[in-house]
Amino acid sequence: MALRHCLVAFLLAFVLQNGTCNGIKWLALFKTPSALALNQTQHCKQLEGLVVSQVQLCRSNLELMQTIIQAAREVIKTCRKTFSDMRWNCSSIALAPNYLLDLERGTRESAFVYALSAAAISHTIARACTTGDLPGCSCGPIPGETPGPGYRWGGCADNLNYGLVMGSKFSDAPMKMKKSGSQANKLMHLHNSEVGRQALKASMEMKCKCHGVSGSCSIKTCWKGLQELRDVALDLKNKYLSATKVVHRPMGTRKHLVPKDLDIRPVKESELVYLQSSPDFCMKNDKVGSHGTQDRQCNKTSNGSDSCDLMCCGRGYNPYMDKVVERCHCKYHWCCYVTCKKCERTVERYVCK
Ligand SMILES: *[C@@H]1O[C@H](CO)[C@@H](O)[C@H](O)[C@H]1NC(C)=O
Ligand SMILES: *[C@@H]1O[C@H](CO)[C@@H](O)[C@H](O)[C@H]1NC(C)=O
Ligand SMILES: *[C@@H]1O[C@H](CO)[C@@H](O)[C@H](O)[C@H]1NC(C)=O
Ligand SMILES: *[C@@H]1O[C@H](CO)[C@@H](O)[C@H](O)[C@H]1NC(C)=O
Repeated sequence: MALRHCLVAFLLAFVLQNGTCNGIKWLALFKTPSALALNQTQHCKQLEGLVVSQVQLCRSNLELMQTIIQAAREVIKTCRKTFSDMRWNCSSIALAPNYLLDLERGTRESAFVYALSAAAISHTIARACTTGDLPGCSCGPIPGETPGPGYRWGGCADNLNYGLVMGSKFSDAPMKMKKSGSQANKLMHLHNSEVGRQALKASMEMKCKCHGVSGSCSIKTCWKGLQELRDVALDLKNKYLSATKVVHRPMGTRKHLVPKDLDIRPVKESELVYLQSSPDFCMKNDKVGSHGTQDRQCNKTSNGSDSCDLMCCGRGYNPYMDKVVERCHCKYHWCCYVTCKKCERTVERYVCK
């Protein structure tokens, strides 16, 4: 009897803790077949990973959906690339919508993925406005002040504002639902999503093109453009590395997320926060969502996180020979092309024991 009670309590705790984190299940959109037309509202039901309010957004903004699907693909690709030199390498993100515990719980890793997802969806929409792919928006506004002598505004700015409004509507929708579970998790995800959008805003820069007689660049035409998503992701990776552990605690009349350490300060708008500590990801352990680093490639000459020391957690590594094919003996032909031969070279590589 006691055991049964225990089990029920455990399952309940499990459901309460995990039922909440459907905030990034929409990344499953990356699997959407490109043949799916998406020109009728009933197609919205066929999309995987959406909560009810996202299906409604799909129905009322059908023309946005191809862009949002594209954003999901960007998130998967960029996350993997950004973390390819880390023990946790974001490979599990492709399991969407059925994540493992590394992304189901309020971990540092999920903090990064929420931030990246929020940044990516707004980035992709803002860019789609610029390229004219969306009927509801066009270029961003031209700034009031002049860019300086010899410069003038022109071209088409990325429509960051439209991207932020529409992107946050869609990606924050799961956290705005009343019933779904733990308040602490929702607060964490909303906060980290906002950090992602802040990083995106900060990436807005002035881009210019030269004009003038024979490339003299006497006049420059400039517009406000976003940096590439991979650069925003690198910024967020630094925030991931310095993320703050928080607890959900009463402060005044309501509960807030506050840093777990003794220093009494509110959470900063620019920092990623997490509720649950992650394992070191050295050994495989499904209970905590760790794949381990056995058989991962490591770099013997690097002294960063992909070094064999750090990647293999001190277990050591095995060398193996790998063949690389390169272009070689290239010849320039007048005029104007180059021919090359293909050469094979063997290189020594290393994988973790
Ligand atoms: C939707 O797209 C498909 C394929 O592009 C096309 O065959 C179909 O006629 C379209 N339907 C509507 C209602 O536009
Ligand atoms: C990422 O890690 C997983 C699990 O350790 C591994 O199977 C996969 O090959 C890694 N991916 C890359 C690109 O290194
Ligand atoms: C290993 O790391 C070094 C130093 O960071 C770098 O120059 C080299 O390209 C890396 N090798 C591979 C195979 O990634
Ligand atoms: C390795 O570490 C040293 C000292 O910390 C640093 O100066 C050097 O640039 C690092 N090398 C690489 C390849 O990261």
